[in-house]
Amino acid sequence: MAELLVTGGAGFIGSNFVHHVLAHTDHTVTVLDKLTYAGNRASLDGLDPDRFRFVQGDICDADAVDPLVAAADAVVHYAAESHNDNSLNDPTPFLHTNLIGTFTLLEAVRRHRVRYHHISTDEVYGDLELDDPQRFTEATPYNPSSPYSSTKAGSDLLVRAWVRSFGIEATLSNCSNNYGPYQHVEKFIPRQVTNVLDGGRPKLYGQGLNVRDWIHADDHSSAVLTILERGRIGETYLIGADGERNNRQVIETILRLLGRPVDGYDHVNDRAGHDLRYAIDSTKLRTELGWAPAFGDFEAGLARTIDWYRDHESWWRPQKQATEAKYAAVGQ
Ligand code: NAD
Ligand code: DAU
Repeated sequence: MAELLVTGGAGFIGSNFVHHVLAHTDHTVTVLDKLTYAGNRASLDGLDPDRFRFVQGDICDADAVDPLVAAADAVVHYAAESHNDNSLNDPTPFLHTNLIGTFTLLEAVRRHRVRYHHISTDEVYGDLELDDPQRFTEATPYNPSSPYSSTKAGSDLLVRAWVRSFGIEATLSNCSNNYGPYQHVEKFIPRQVTNVLDGGRPKLYGQGLNVRDWIHADDHSSAVLTILERGRIGETYLIGADGERNNRQVIETILRLLGRPVDGYDHVNDRAGHDLRYAIDSTKLRTELGWAPAFGDFEAGLARTIDWYRDHESWWRPQKQATEAKYAAVGQ
C-alpha cells in the first residue's frame, strides 16, 4: 500500500485516475487541485474517506506543495491548463501552471526524494500528415504547435533535466486524446454530445479532416498505474489505443448513436494553427510492461460515454451556457 499525491485530481483524467486507483489497488490518495474553471469537486464525490482526501491548492505554491510531497510515496502530476483553444485566447495561465507548477513539484520531489510520474501529451510531437505511415514513438523529435503544447513540452524537458542533473526518480508518459466521463463540456466529444442532448447541433472546426487517436480515460489510468509500478526510471512511455478517427467521423457517429441525421452538424471557424493528425505507436509500453487497453471498440466506449452525459446532466449543466457563449464570441 502506498500514499499517492495526485495533482489535478478534480479534472477529467485525474478524477478518472483516482476512481481507478481506489477501485483496483489498496493505495490511499491525496488530491491537490486548485479548482480552476476545469476542476470539479463533484467528480470525486462518494469516495472512501479512509482512503481519500482532497486539498484545494495551487501547484505553483511551494509552501502548499512541500508538506504534501513530503508525506507521499509517489506523486502523479496531472494538473495543467489543458485546452488548446483557451491557450490561443490567453496563454498566461498555461505558462504559470504548466511550467512553474511543474518546476515547483520537481523541486519538492528533489528535496524529499519522492517517486514522480509526469503526465503529458502526444501534442509535444507536433502533427503528422494524413498519409504518413509513421506514428509518434518515444524517439520522435519534439515540435509543439500551440501555447498549450509548447508549455507541456517545456514541462517534459524540465522533468528529463531533473532526472539527469539531480537523479530524481521519475517516469513520463505522453498520451493521445482521451474520452470518457467527467470531461469538461469545452472539449470536442462532450461539447457535441451535450449540444445534441440540448436539441442543438454539433460544431465542426473547418472541414473536420483532422485526426485524433482516441483512448478511453480508464485505459489511460491503467497505463499510468502500470508505469508507476513497473516503469524504468528516467524512461518515457507513449500511451495509445489505436483509435484514429477524423473529427467528422466522430461527429457522425455521435449523431447516429443519438438517433439524429448524420449530416445534422455545423461547420464553424477553424482553430488557428490546428494540428492535422496525431497517432501513437504504443509498442514500448505494450511489449516492455505488458499493458493493453480494455476498451478495444471506440464506438462502444463512445456509446457508454454518451449514456454517462445523458445520466449526469447535473454535473455538466452549470458549465454549458458560459462555455457556448465563449465559443460563439469567436465564431466557433
Ligand atoms: P482538465 O483541464 O480537465 O483538468 C485539469 C485539472 O488541473 C483541473 O482539476 C484544474 O482545477 C487543475 N489545475 C489547473 N491548474 C492548477 C494549479 N495551478 N494547481 C492545482 N491544480 C490545477 O485536464 P485533463 O484533460 O484532465 O488533463 C490532465 C492532464 O493530462 C494534463 O496534464 C494534460 O496535459 C494531460 N493530457 C490530457 C489529455 C486529454 O485528452 N485530455 C491527453 C493526454 C494528456
Ligand atoms: O492529444 C492529446 C490532447 O487532446 C491533450 O493534450 C489536450 O489536453 C486535450 O484537450 C486534447 O487536445 P485537442 O485539441 O486534440 O482536443 P479538443 O477536444 O479541443 O479537440 C479535438 C479535435 O476536435 C480537434 O481537432 C479540434 C476539434 N474540435 C474541437 C471542438 C471543441 C471541433 O471540431 N469542434 C469543437 O467544437
